[in-house]
Amino acid sequence: GPPALVDPFGRAITYLRVSVTDRCDLRCVYCMSEHMTFLPRADLLSLEELDRLCSAFVARGTRKLRITGGEPLVRRGIMTLFRALSRHLVTGALDEMTVTTNGSQLEKYAAELAACGVRRINVSLDTLDPKTFRDITRWGDLAQVKAGIAAAQRAGLKVKINAVALKGVNEHALADLMVWAHGEGMDLTIIEVMPLGEIGEDRLDQYLPLSTVRARLAERFTLTETDYRTGGPARYVRVAETGGRLGFITPLTHNFCESCNRVRLTCTGTLFMCLGQEDAADLRAVLRASPDDAQLHAALDEAIRRKPKGHDFVIDRTTKRPAVARHMSVTGG
Ligand code: GTP
Ligand code: 5AD
Ligand code: SF4
Repeated sequence: GPPALVDPFGRAITYLRVSVTDRCDLRCVYCMSEHMTFLPRADLLSLEELDRLCSAFVARGTRKLRITGGEPLVRRGIMTLFRALSRHLVTGALDEMTVTTNGSQLEKYAAELAACGVRRINVSLDTLDPKTFRDITRWGDLAQVKAGIAAAQRAGLKVKINAVALKGVNEHALADLMVWAHGEGMDLTIIEVMPLGEIGEDRLDQYLPLSTVRARLAERFTLTETDYRTGGPARYVRVAETGGRLGFITPLTHNFCESCNRVRLTCTGTLFMCLGQEDAADLRAVLRASPDDAQLHAALDEAIRRKPKGHDFVIDRTTKRPAVARHMSVTGG
């Protein structure tokens, strides 16, 4: 078949993140604005087109697929896509098919996800305090998310919690979140908030370097470096007191682009070569131009040739403009 995708910096592209919808039932402050205009349904790739694109990537060396959104589990018929893509797990072409979700639909879908070969999922949950949870998600129901997590665990899915660190919002709740997650047998990953989408005064004020979070946790817990890796950007420590794993994702304070292995596909078939850059390739047009994948493979080669060395996230305190204008929900992180 066609050769594996390797970028000009010698980085093999083995991890595809696929946003299957720009919609979400929540409006986390770091991800969307309160009033979002969602894409007309006609602009979306069909589930068949998403399958065709993902499969083209699998043919070119993608070993890990992560389905994201928006909230991926609000896309109508989404289990059809999981079922279709699960064939690549069966053949061994894919090592892992996984999901990043806000957890609100897990009670409904956890068992089906497990049946499709999903083994591990990441659930975004920034705090265990219902009031703070509501402030961050604007109207989210913490109990529903916790019930979703419990359902996922009953279905045999390994759950990791993702928490975005927000100064003055959840910074002092992270230790509790960690103790809870570890007590439930889950890893926790803490993430530096990235400047995407309209960045109001708030977001700038909410940026918190993880060096601060880590130093605070280290006052109460014994943290030991590990070399555990999942193919994502997190670096993990083991926490002696809880026995659990704690990950740090530090795009701003400790750039990890050198070992980048991933690209992002949006629900309209736009391929972003980097989360922190605007450059993109329109794969939908190529897909629809011909039922034969030859042009698509040529378009993948051309796109990967343009993968930049890294992001340019800088928070410009004078203009308050985000480094990247698109919202996080377009690519699902
Ligand atoms: P694992 O497979 O568990 O390692 O997951 P992951 O970290 O790859 O994916 P997840 O969807 O849980 O993303 C966690 C955070 O990492 C989100 O805030 C993403 O935006 C961020 N992230 C993932 N990949 C990149 C990347 O290439 N660059 C940047 N800047 N952030 C990334
Ligand atoms: N900065 C960092 N992480 C973000 N996420 C959403 N928006 C941002 C942001 N601006 C996280 C979500 C989810 C993951 C896909 O990305 O919490 O866990
Ligand atoms: Fe929805 Fe996830 Fe964005 Fe929150 S971070 S608004 S849950 S897509």
